[in-house]
Amino acid sequence: MSACITLEHVRFRWPGAQHHTLDIPQLSIQRGEQVLLRGPSGCGKSTLLSLIAGIHCPTEGQLQVLNQPLTALNQRQRDRLRANEIGYIFQQFNLLPYLSAVANVALACQFAPARRQRLQQQGLSVDQASAALLTRLGLSTAEQQLHAQQLSVGQQQRVAAARALLGAPALIIADEPTSALDQAHRDAFIEVLFEQCAAQQSTLLFVTHDATLAKHFARVIEFTAINAVQREAKHV
Ligand SMILES: Nc1ncnc2c1ncn2[C@@H]1O[C@H](COP(=O)(O)OP(=O)(O)OP(=O)(O)O)[C@@H](O)[C@H]1O
Ligand SMILES: [Mg+2]
Repeated sequence: MSACITLEHVRFRWPGAQHHTLDIPQLSIQRGEQVLLRGPSGCGKSTLLSLIAGIHCPTEGQLQVLNQPLTALNQRQRDRLRANEIGYIFQQFNLLPYLSAVANVALACQFAPARRQRLQQQGLSVDQASAALLTRLGLSTAEQQLHAQQLSVGQQQRVAAARALLGAPALIIADEPTSALDQAHRDAFIEVLFEQCAAQQSTLLFVTHDATLAKHFARVIEFTAINAVQREAKHV
């Protein structure tokens, strides 16, 4: 197996903050691995995901994602890598409120030629694939046409999930993707998620506080065990 994500001596401090949020000496996740990351609220999980997705840059250290040295790429190169190869379910969903559900999903392919190409190879149009994913996640045809702002929180979360999965990105990052779902929709989502990961050998990095989900993952990372900032803070 080759590495999907490698961090070496990564530190990150938010602008204006007095202390580092992250100080991770080493972390490696292999391609095709499905990893659960958990830790207390505010410990820095979403911050770490934003670095791995190339949204923010480490203050120090080396970060490689999908064989790309993120720390050596410029913002445009990182944006391109994310658009094509990283499906990100944000904790706050980040949907466009005045676009329909299905248009929000299809947006994942707009600046992502590699994702579009993978759908073409399966003989699917972007709109067909977007609608099919939403249907599997339990949104009716009528609901798929509603603006994102007209949907319930759980429906919006499923739109965000479909957008992340569309076009089979090599890495799927899911930040509390089931927090607003009832058990039936959560089970349906987990099934679709693992099916997509298996079919495409995608790597999955999944953050959750839901202890019942741990059984689905071969590897569980305790955030406080990889982040030196946490260990120090406990002894202050
Ligand atoms: N955009 C930001 N600007 C400045 N500081 C931030 C920003 N986002 C997060 N932080 C700070 O970074 C720390 C870690 O936040 P983060 O959102 O990564 O935690 P988390 O582990 O994801 O928590 P939760 O489980 O509640 O989602 C917090 O102290 C927070 O105040
Ligand atoms: Mg978070």
